[in-house]
Amino acid sequence: MNAFANGAGPARAALWGCLLSLAVVAPPSAFGDVKGLSKMAYGETKDGEAVDLYTLKNGKITVKVATYGATIVSIGAPDRDGKVEEVTLGFDSLDGYLGEHPYFGATVGRVANRIAKGKFTLDGEAYSLAINNPPNALHGGVKGFNRVVWKAEPVESPDGPSVKMTYTSKDGEEGYPGNLATTVTFTVTADDALRIDYEATTDKATPINLSNHAYFNLAGGADATMLDHELTLAASKYTPVDDTLIPTGAIEPVEGTPLDFRKPTAIGARIAQMEGEPGGYDHNFVLDSGGGKLAFAARVHHPKTGRVVEMSTTEPGVQFYSGNFLDGTNVGKGGLVYKKHYGLCLEAQHFPDSIHHPNFPDAVLRPGETYTQTTVYKFSAR
Ligand code: BGC
Repeated sequence: MNAFANGAGPARAALWGCLLSLAVVAPPSAFGDVKGLSKMAYGETKDGEAVDLYTLKNGKITVKVATYGATIVSIGAPDRDGKVEEVTLGFDSLDGYLGEHPYFGATVGRVANRIAKGKFTLDGEAYSLAINNPPNALHGGVKGFNRVVWKAEPVESPDGPSVKMTYTSKDGEEGYPGNLATTVTFTVTADDALRIDYEATTDKATPINLSNHAYFNLAGGADATMLDHELTLAASKYTPVDDTLIPTGAIEPVEGTPLDFRKPTAIGARIAQMEGEPGGYDHNFVLDSGGGKLAFAARVHHPKTGRVVEMSTTEPGVQFYSGNFLDGTNVGKGGLVYKKHYGLCLEAQHFPDSIHHPNFPDAVLRPGETYTQTTVYKFSAR
């Protein structure tokens, strides 16, 4: 016999009342009190590792981040009429991310961008990396930070819903020295911005360069290139590259070249002049801020919808990549075939191949030091 069958009417009513009020006051989050944050199972890797998808909502934007590759899977942002649509490239389910793709939305590391010939010497010791972008090493290797499952925990933050992802890359992983403990925290703030804070420590000196590889197209899931988007870059200089996209070591002015985006300019306006290798823009811009403090780096405006994304970063450089190698192989969200120039990347970074260029800002982390990087993508419409 249970208590309710024993004439315990008032107790039952009180219990129901209590349950009901709990239901009413409970926030719409899987995490009790982290408002605007929810979590769902996203599937499994081929090795059977569980992957979760976190949704962060604040202001007018919604951001989805998967624990596989600490990947930005989706950003929904309003146009000038308030219509919220997808503004990043990617897939409708985990399967797409597990397959071959050019780093859609992924966290890239331990070293984003290229290391010439995949070889370097540090503190007298020679290291060899996989040549996954012949003849160079690219974006952390064959199984970079974009291909591992990160641990995630919700974070109490006064700024908005926040999820902290952690991954420890073992000494020797992908050829790099030192156990590297890494955290990447995604926060969506009330002013419609996604802030990404990176931190890392190591027990042996190692090159490091963490970034995010989101592809933006502010047209909102349209079957269209981003060549009509207007770009502003706060960079008077860039690092010219050889024909394998490795910097020559020079730092040259953008003035008088098609890389001068100091005033808002349609990306397509001069891209024809870049049609030799690499078939568009794929360059490291030297930010006028010099790095070290959070400062304005770039703005992209889509005149048709009015959408704007403004990027600030603590990094000294940004790789502006105009999606030159998108060739229709990847079928993405809603069945959209991603063709050349369908998305653009603004990757905050230290300069490519810094390990071979003493005149570039130092990109080596040593024991006892803490690497930090903050990049903000703020959305608006006009
Ligand atoms: C690189 C490109 C590369 C792309 C996708 C960008 O960061 O600069 O050269 O093709 O990533 O891998």
